[in-house]
Amino acid sequence: MTGKVLITGAAGFIGFHLARRMLADGWQVTGLDGMTAYYDPALKQARLDILQGQPGFAFHQAMLEAEGGLTTLAAAVRPDVIIHLAAQAGVRYSIDAPRSYVQSNLIGTHEVLEAARAHPPRHLLMASTSSAYGANTKMPYTETDRATHPMSFYAATKIANEAMAHSYAHLFGVPTTMFRFFTVYGTWGRPDMALFKFTKAILNNEPIDVYNHGNMQRDFTYIEDLVEGITRLVATPPGTDPVGPMDSLSPVAPYRVVNIGNGAPVQLTDFIAAIEAATGRTATRNLMPMQPGDVPATWADAALITALVGPLPRTDIRDGVARFVDWYRGWNGN
Ligand SMILES: NC(=O)c1ccc[n+]([C@@H]2O[C@H](COP(=O)([O-])OP(=O)(O)OC[C@H]3O[C@@H](n4cnc5c(N)ncnc54)[C@H](O)[C@@H]3O)[C@@H](O)[C@H]2O)c1
Repeated sequence: MTGKVLITGAAGFIGFHLARRMLADGWQVTGLDGMTAYYDPALKQARLDILQGQPGFAFHQAMLEAEGGLTTLAAAVRPDVIIHLAAQAGVRYSIDAPRSYVQSNLIGTHEVLEAARAHPPRHLLMASTSSAYGANTKMPYTETDRATHPMSFYAATKIANEAMAHSYAHLFGVPTTMFRFFTVYGTWGRPDMALFKFTKAILNNEPIDVYNHGNMQRDFTYIEDLVEGITRLVATPPGTDPVGPMDSLSPVAPYRVVNIGNGAPVQLTDFIAAIEAATGRTATRNLMPMQPGDVPATWADAALITALVGPLPRTDIRDGVARFVDWYRGWNGN
């Protein structure tokens, strides 16, 4: 399947990789990004420079929340598929700057829904997060588990996005998939996330802050495995009939929530050991208490996505971390 796709957040970590993959698959890609200053815009620009060198790619710099802007863009492009990845991301920053999450994630996502209502694509896919599972302790996290106890305002805005998307899918009939991503990592990754921060500190002989005294687990998902899952799901829009018991979040709308994770949680200590092996250095650990808003563990139940699109590739954490460190050395010039 190919056609025209509109990707929001195309200069972001995941959007960049997805746009590159869909261009290679033969899609016409329109990317939108506000190039926000949440982290170094030079990294976003460098990703964008790669995309802009490729045939089939067009870029629009704009903020999601500009009223009517996305609807105008959708009228001009008439995308077959819309993939909405732009957001104010980050659990910790949502404690300091909650208004940014209201603007980008609530008002901005509503503009995406309005664009899809005015110019319905065959499939609308939007990013939610494993943080939606909040205070849940049952592992692994399954899509039909309650997602009603967010631990951060970031998670609250993403749960709100899921509810907003469900109402539009029900009222206006656009088949809608909400992805719940689990700690995505890899080349061109985000400077606010642990892998980038740890690698930078270890290579600079600086200590790393290890939260909850290292007693943390994350279902780390390698970027290329995630992108493979997204592209397979693009071709698998939901109908109103669930495919099985885990696909039953809506009795009325063509709407589906899908975990995309590796399906195997990794101890933070093993993650740090992988960075030490890839850098050839030993980390100095600064043991810290749990951070407000954070959860000690995440683990994706992969049964639904496997039932929908088959098993995804599962890059080993040591290989994925080594690929990141190689990229980081080149990016940072060390
Ligand atoms: N990376 C992860 O581990 C992870 C995990 C769970 C969910 N997610 C979600 O996946 C999506 C992509 O995440 P990412 O890691 O690529 O983040 P990212 O910050 O690298 O990319 C987001 C992009 O959106 C743009 N943006 C932000 N607010 C905007 C606005 N109001 N208008 C226009 N553009 C705006 C930013 O400039 C950025 O380039 C986000 O929705 C995020 O919440 C990511």
